[in-house]
Amino acid sequence: MKAFLPLAALALAASGCTCGNTSASQVLQRMEVQEKYLPYRSNDIFADGRAMRTPPEGTVPRERLVGHPAITSGEVNGVPVTEVPVPITAELLRRGRHRYEIVCANCHGLVGNGDSMVADNMATRLPPSLVALTDKPAGFFYKAITQGYGLMPSFSGEIPLDERWAVVAYVKALQLSQNTPIQALPQDVQRRLREGQTWAQ
Ligand code: HEC
Repeated sequence: MKAFLPLAALALAASGCTCGNTSASQVLQRMEVQEKYLPYRSNDIFADGRAMRTPPEGTVPRERLVGHPAITSGEVNGVPVTEVPVPITAELLRRGRHRYEIVCANCHGLVGNGDSMVADNMATRLPPSLVALTDKPAGFFYKAITQGYGLMPSFSGEIPLDERWAVVAYVKALQLSQNTPIQALPQDVQRRLREGQTWAQ
């Protein structure tokens, strides 16, 4: 029996098992600290020496929407879609407003009329009024956000695909709100506006 003990201890050590009083969470935790290739590290196994690999051609990210050109590109057969191709709900407009006020309002103004701090101090071509562009189809705005427009960079990194349509829907709502004469509103709304009342957010 004595002769077997050192062997058993050796086998345990070789398997790296520190079982006994180690909890399951500690075992899993080790994956976090174990040796592995992290992004942007080098790896001699590959000819180009990089640990990060290029996915095989045609790989589709799990979260990508496919098969809905109107939604994913804002156009069908090269023609921008006229309407927002996702259901417009109060929640969508709320998200659109949130995102618009973070990303777009700095330049195009809170109500989309191009009146902003950035515009006041910009030396190059100024951010235009978006509420004046009532003749532009929804897909035009979607493409401007996704691809950029002239001097304006793309905001596809800041605004994920579904939220881009939320922003477009909100820009369309701004157009409506900024181009509607007060006389066209219901009496009680007119009264509240004249009294300078604001609406709950
Ligand atoms: C850093 C400032 C800036 C931000 C932020 C910005 N824009 Fe712009 N945008 C501009 C400028 C400047 C132009 C004009 C570019 C040109 O004509 O070269 C422009 C042009 C546009 C146009 C084309 C207008 C036309 O006259 O046809 C659209 C549409 C537009 N922006 C929408 C947006 C939306 C939506 C957002 C938010 C996601 C946004 N922009 C954020 C500066 C900005």
